[in-house]
Amino acid sequence: MNNIVVLISGGGSNMRALVEASRREDWAARYGARISLVLSNRPDAGGLAWAREQGLATAVVDHRFYAQAPQPRESFEADLIRHIDAHAPALVLLAGFMRILTPGFVARYAGRMLNIHPSLLPAFTGLHTHQRAIDAGCRYAGATVHEVTAELDHGPILAQAVVPVLPGDDADTLAARVLSQEHRIYPQAVAERLRQLGN
Ligand code: GRF
Repeated sequence: MNNIVVLISGGGSNMRALVEASRREDWAARYGARISLVLSNRPDAGGLAWAREQGLATAVVDHRFYAQAPQPRESFEADLIRHIDAHAPALVLLAGFMRILTPGFVARYAGRMLNIHPSLLPAFTGLHTHQRAIDAGCRYAGATVHEVTAELDHGPILAQAVVPVLPGDDADTLAARVLSQEHRIYPQAVAERLRQLGN
């Protein structure tokens, strides 16, 4: 079985879209794949409760717990890796996971770790992408699914979706329009990657 581990930090709407697509499109039968773990760095992440209700395995590695550790990032990631590797995943999906990962962690999952970013990369890497697009006077915005590499928000692009920036838009209204497209392109890009894995 191709196990898929999804990392979240918040509401988890992208994780939910992935889980629902995996069931609707029967990834188990079609690609021999299943979402086997939802992992969060925040115990209060809203997506965890939903994942548990769905009968999915969940785990929490609270990054704040490592603040006093000699190497906070590496210690945090060592525990993340322990949970992830227990599932020997074919894919690791970052879905609203808001921690910057070390090059060592990224190298461990090279070629099998994907991320969804709420802008049309390479434009607007980092945070506050919607407000920055509005402030720049962009007529279009969007989202990008990309492979994760050591340089933040710079890996090979697998899918993109474009939405208009409408008069009167603020960061929230634009974010909502982009998010609905994220829920479409992330499952599509993952299914395409699973199809390739099967070849
Ligand atoms: C999404 O816009 C995603 O692109 C970004 O964080 C947001 C998280 O949304 N990285 P959710 O937690 O999946 O609802």
